[in-house]
Amino acid sequence: MKIFLTSKEGFEKVLAREIAGCGLKSEGHGTGWVMADGDPAFLTQQAGGLCFACDILQNPQDIHAESVNGFVRALVDLFTAHLGTGRIDGSWPYAFLSFGDEKLGRYTQSLKERWLEALRKKMSRMARSAQEGIPQGPAFAGGFFVVVTDFNKARVSFKAMSQGQQRMKMDPQSPSRSYLKLEEAFHIFECTPKEGDRVIDLGAAPGGWSLSALKRGASVIAIDNGPLREPVKSHPKMVHLKADALKYRPEALDPVDWLLCDVLEAPEIILGLLRQWLENKWCRHFIVNLKLGRRDPVALLAEIRDGTKGLWPYCQALSLRQLYHDREEITLMGTVRMSGKDQAGQGRP
Ligand SMILES: C[S@@+](CC[C@H](N)C(=O)[O-])C[C@H]1O[C@@H](n2cnc3c(N)ncnc32)[C@H](O)[C@@H]1O
Repeated sequence: MKIFLTSKEGFEKVLAREIAGCGLKSEGHGTGWVMADGDPAFLTQQAGGLCFACDILQNPQDIHAESVNGFVRALVDLFTAHLGTGRIDGSWPYAFLSFGDEKLGRYTQSLKERWLEALRKKMSRMARSAQEGIPQGPAFAGGFFVVVTDFNKARVSFKAMSQGQQRMKMDPQSPSRSYLKLEEAFHIFECTPKEGDRVIDLGAAPGGWSLSALKRGASVIAIDNGPLREPVKSHPKMVHLKADALKYRPEALDPVDWLLCDVLEAPEIILGLLRQWLENKWCRHFIVNLKLGRRDPVALLAEIRDGTKGLWPYCQALSLRQLYHDREEITLMGTVRMSGKDQAGQGRP
């Protein structure tokens, strides 16, 4: 089956190599996308999820049109024909995507609006229950998903899933834009600190990640030789230790609830540090950002996913993603495998 995958711009070849490891053959790529052939089930079985894919569309069909009106008509006809094969009850998702060119982006937006308008006229009930956005996996969702590749060309799919990446809203109080990364990681992992949780934030300055945990009622120990900024600096639930994050060890005998780590260091050093935290069960959950630097991202993923030497032996849950807000980085989100006693009553993924 043909599969269309989107990635962050500049990471198409990395994604093509990543999916090759899942038995998918890449058949070409363009700005922000890769076309592949293979069994989509392999993708959903990938340990930790695909890291460099954003949206995944099954079996896209090509459509061509000579004019905007023709384009809208072709899209409505395709949708109606698809509906003829089954019934949709309740709300259903749709999305219109395009890549690269800003002009094509604006055109795609207006195409979407005109398609919705035409749908309202033809099938008002269906139009009312339409919900924009591709639902987050791990399963594929049925809907209407359009990738506009040119002013007269698109690919249309009826099954898609998102890997959860999304643009988050900035908090004007945050000392840094890194705040957005942690907010997005919490959204994808579907798990966040709660009131009273204990959080260790390694490489915390100037304090965006700490703010994100404090806002949820957690208490935070921030480890960084650099200065924190307000409102984090003098928050009553905040302790700042000017220390080396690579040498810091938690004092509590029982695991802290969260390890957050955004230390600016080579990925192998941070992975070594994380392995130490996991081996010793010093935390229950973790969110760790890895700066790729010169490391081959696909080799790095293989190391993380390795069934014996990687992180899996220590984890009950693990997600790997290049976030919307990541640059040359990836983010690891996990829950540590604890003994029965430690796990009791945690109620987390
Ligand atoms: C990308 S910034 C962190 C931004 C932070 N997460 C935020 O939301 O504001 C990286 C931080 O890592 C810190 N850092 C680098 N090496 C460190 C080390 N060995 N120990 C502690 N902090 C370190 C730097 O001082 C810097 O503040």
